[in-house]
Amino acid sequence: MKGVLLSGGTGSRLRPITHTGPKQLVPVANKPVLEYAIEDFKDAGITEIGVVLGNKGRDEIQELLGDGSEYGVDITYIVQGNPLGLAHAAGCARDFVDGDDFVMYLGDNILKEGITDLVESFRVGDYGAGIALQEVDNPQQFGIADVDDDGTVTELVEKPDDPPTNLALIGMYVFSADVFDAIERLEPSWRGELEITDAIQLLLEDGHDIDSHVVTGWWKDTGKPEDILEANRLVLEETELTREGSIAAGAQTDGRIGLAESAEIEDGAVVRGPVSIAEGTTVKEGAYVGPYTSIGPDSTIEDAHIENSVVIGESEITASGRIVDSLLGRNANVQSADELLPEGRRLVVGENSQLRL
Ligand code: DAU
Repeated sequence: MKGVLLSGGTGSRLRPITHTGPKQLVPVANKPVLEYAIEDFKDAGITEIGVVLGNKGRDEIQELLGDGSEYGVDITYIVQGNPLGLAHAAGCARDFVDGDDFVMYLGDNILKEGITDLVESFRVGDYGAGIALQEVDNPQQFGIADVDDDGTVTELVEKPDDPPTNLALIGMYVFSADVFDAIERLEPSWRGELEITDAIQLLLEDGHDIDSHVVTGWWKDTGKPEDILEANRLVLEETELTREGSIAAGAQTDGRIGLAESAEIEDGAVVRGPVSIAEGTTVKEGAYVGPYTSIGPDSTIEDAHIENSVVIGESEITASGRIVDSLLGRNANVQSADELLPEGRRLVVGENSQLRL
């Protein structure tokens, strides 16, 4: 079985963070979202992975993942270009898949329990596709499956106005190579995309059985800022965090703290886990870094209080005051304006930014 990892799309709901890079590289607990998927493939025994690239961030993604050897997998890059839909992206991987079964994984999704059960369940049966489902509160925003009492999938519909159930298709699918013929017969949906949900519906109409698997552990589509914060919280809650950097005797720390080797917590700083602090970052006197916060590399936190937030990296946060529930892009700086006149907030804010003052 092969793996197809989708890393295209526009990332419009994550602007301005995605003005400069792809959403699949936004870090959660200081690790790019895409790496969680690579680890899940590896854990399920899938080591031949095709990474589908869009127009944005192709170089950065290839720089990060390389040929896959650092992760113990073998990566082939496939260019999709414009985001013409998930089924279009899958279709681009046809030559790479070369008649095998494959798992398609949406590169901005994180799934606590990984994909091993989904893959095993598909392998023991004779299915056209295997889907992972989870109950959601807002079924209008997802692909939705209708299933009868014994769990047999009877219908699939993408982002329905009138959802038959609240069982959403989550971002991991297993396919037999039959899906490629279904994809060739698809027409673009109302949003102008070739929908993978419609391709699975065609497989069903062609008489294939669809394996379904209801996922009970958490799953996160990290498409929006609040989703990144929640994924960060969920991952920090559970991952093992290792302290390698230095903590001064006069610093106050408690809870689980992940501290990279070259990171420092200095005298007079307070850090309360779970927290992840990346390489080259210093938490200085007067700073408070509170639970569910990840601070990326090469940053300084001083005087500021920050909690339940993600700082991507290369930032200076030195303004006194509380920053909560925030996502700060690379090289974002938050400094004090106290001694400047006239008094007031001084902002250089990019397109599509959101400030609550
Ligand atoms: O998150 C699960 C949902 O993902 C499913 O319930 C829906 O059925 C499915 O259509 C999809 O919905 P979204 O509208 O949220 O998908 P999005 O456009 O965010 O794309 C998902 C990932 O696939 C993202 O990492 C970008 C990538 N992508 C997307 C498109 C449209 C591509 O690589 N190429 C594309 O053409």
